[in-house]
Amino acid sequence: MLREIEYLKKLAENGGPEENQYEELGEMYKSLNQRRKKGMISEEEVMRIWQALPDIYCTTDTMQGYVLMKPHGYSGDFVVIERIYSGWLSPKQHLINWDRFFHCQEAPRAVVNRKKYFIDLLRSFNPTDAKREVLNIGCGPCQDIVEFLSAGDSQIFFECVDYDKDAIEYSYNKIKEKGFLNNVEFFRENAFKFKPSREYDLIWSAGLFDYLDEKTFKMLLTKMLNFVKTGGKVVIGNFSLDNPTRDYMECGNWFLYHRSPDDLIKIASECGVAPEKISVKSESLGVNLFLHISR
Ligand SMILES: C[S@@+](CC[C@H](N)C(=O)[O-])C[C@H]1O[C@@H](n2cnc3c(N)ncnc32)[C@H](O)[C@@H]1O
Repeated sequence: MLREIEYLKKLAENGGPEENQYEELGEMYKSLNQRRKKGMISEEEVMRIWQALPDIYCTTDTMQGYVLMKPHGYSGDFVVIERIYSGWLSPKQHLINWDRFFHCQEAPRAVVNRKKYFIDLLRSFNPTDAKREVLNIGCGPCQDIVEFLSAGDSQIFFECVDYDKDAIEYSYNKIKEKGFLNNVEFFRENAFKFKPSREYDLIWSAGLFDYLDEKTFKMLLTKMLNFVKTGGKVVIGNFSLDNPTRDYMECGNWFLYHRSPDDLIKIASECGVAPEKISVKSESLGVNLFLHISR
């Protein structure tokens, strides 16, 4: 462990990783995680590395520190996601290079792409059509909806569900400030307990199903399929097996169920969806997949 600590300390002394050092730093995370996975080192030993550099890793003043600290009790909370969307950099000058490294990784870039993916889906509704209803499960910071609605009048009405009261409060205030409350209703609920009172043209969920094992994924999907209008669709984001950032994330205790297109197709089929109604797409990096189910 000493080798990694010395290496990171040296980087820190020189102002954090520069672009030409990203590959080497990425390799360090990779080798660390591979050894952890093989049982050659324990979670505690990995944690001790981060604790040896508290300024970077035991603080919410850096992206990686925030991920490790989990101030809301879980990885990928609305603050992390919002920081990813805005390309947030530490207010502390000497820590900025660590955040630049973070944002350069494929996974956060895929998260930014997934916001665009959702916005493009919303734009594919014909604006002159009758009012459309969209359910957003695990809505987080709602930046996608804010950006979509900011582009002009919309006939879309959103219901946003999240079980984190801070996420709901944050997003409610943001939507209110922008004057979009007529287009959005919030529900502070666990998605598994949420009882929709209508059917939707689109049910969207990104950044939630990849935290669910197969059994719970199927449970939530089966429930949601009952609330899609005929002609409507469910679109679910899930990280792909091809995620070059996986080792870095897992070193930061950020574990997801990565899935292949075939895994997603199999899950949908086993929920009773006919093969011709299922397709899997991805954002441009191929890191975030989207399971499409049409009704
Ligand atoms: C990674 S964030 C993604 C946010 C948003 N979909 C986006 O892509 O910008 C996941 C969100 O899902 C919420 N969440 C996780 N499990 C949930 C559950 N069972 N019910 C409701 N919300 C949940 C979390 O609180 C968090 O805000």
